[in-house]
Amino acid sequence: MWTKSSRKFCETLGLSYPIIQAPMAGGPTTPALVSAVSEAGGLGFVGAGYMKPDALRETITEIRRATDKPFGVNVFVLDDATLPQGPASSVRRALLDIAEDLSVSDLNLEPSVSSNLDAHLDVLIEQRVPVVSCTFGVLTADRISALRAGGSVVVGTATTSEEAKALEEARCDAIVLQGFEAGGHRGAFLANQPDVGLFALVPQTCDRVSVPVIASGGIMDGRGIAAALSLGAAAVQMGTAFLTVDESGASPVWKQEVRNASDVSTVLTKAFSGKRARGKRNEFVRRFEALEDEIPAYPLQNRITTTLRAAAKAQGRGEYMSLWAGQAAALSRTVPAAELMTALVDETEHVLDAFEVPRS
Ligand SMILES: Cc1cc2nc3c(=O)[nH]c(=O)nc-3n(C[C@H](O)[C@H](O)[C@H](O)COP(=O)(O)O)c2cc1C
Repeated sequence: MWTKSSRKFCETLGLSYPIIQAPMAGGPTTPALVSAVSEAGGLGFVGAGYMKPDALRETITEIRRATDKPFGVNVFVLDDATLPQGPASSVRRALLDIAEDLSVSDLNLEPSVSSNLDAHLDVLIEQRVPVVSCTFGVLTADRISALRAGGSVVVGTATTSEEAKALEEARCDAIVLQGFEAGGHRGAFLANQPDVGLFALVPQTCDRVSVPVIASGGIMDGRGIAAALSLGAAAVQMGTAFLTVDESGASPVWKQEVRNASDVSTVLTKAFSGKRARGKRNEFVRRFEALEDEIPAYPLQNRITTTLRAAAKAQGRGEYMSLWAGQAAALSRTVPAAELMTALVDETEHVLDAFEVPRS
């Protein structure tokens, strides 16, 4: 399909097109979205990071009821964390001000978060999920072996060529590369990795690793897909483009905010989670801008703000919601997922035709 490396990638995974709907933890990747993308010949992906193991098992069953095509599940590589003394007073004040505005009285400022990685992997090994990806770190060798023994293709997530090399050495079968443009959290896991844009990241990483590379960040249409494949990627992973489709579980306010974005609407912020992530700059983000160094580390700030974000969502208060989106959000569309898939394929064909070089 389109290039030699993308054809090989599609054959290995049983896909018609090298288009992956990004895993998006926290609600957007419903079974309806995942199965629609897979049915359309791409790879639908569940963002399982915040799911309870039983809910993950049920989600997998629902997807399998809707399609017999391959799909993926993404998990978080995290340790247990606890914040017995709570956040610094400046952060505490900012959180309590927002809580008051939203009439939230049960803010937990001293959270403990347990990793659910082992429980997730047990489910994925038991269920023989076709593709398993991880973010925020590297899976242990025995977990990677167990997944592969069950027939899963194992994918790691990197933000620099150095991280990609580490994932290849850990025996990942393919690597998602997240450029600086990407919406949501990126999977940086080595210390002091600078932000790298996708155009710089893809060719340099392709020169350094021999496993297939999946380009991710700011890809919204056939122009982006063709560009990524030209740079050497075997496939693309698109998040924001699928946030606004009919089957996405993103709330109506969030979808509208993504549709209203421009190229300068998003920033990297630690405000919601304690880890830098890209989303629209709203009132919540602004209130924490001067406090970035005092915000508790991920996932503790994420757990503290869960109640606030849930209340903001219930009240339709976009100014306090985490409006994750990539830098090219303005190119998003509100259509059914299958229609988006058809458009992406047609557009990529159109762009590749414009190169006026014979294609096999
Ligand atoms: C709302 C949202 C949630 C995300 N959650 C995850 C996740 O759970 N796991 C993951 O590996 N990547 C996650 N990402 C990052 C995507 O995998 C992907 O790299 C990113 O969406 C690409 O940039 P784009 O949004 O411009 O397409 C998320 C992105 C968004 C927008």
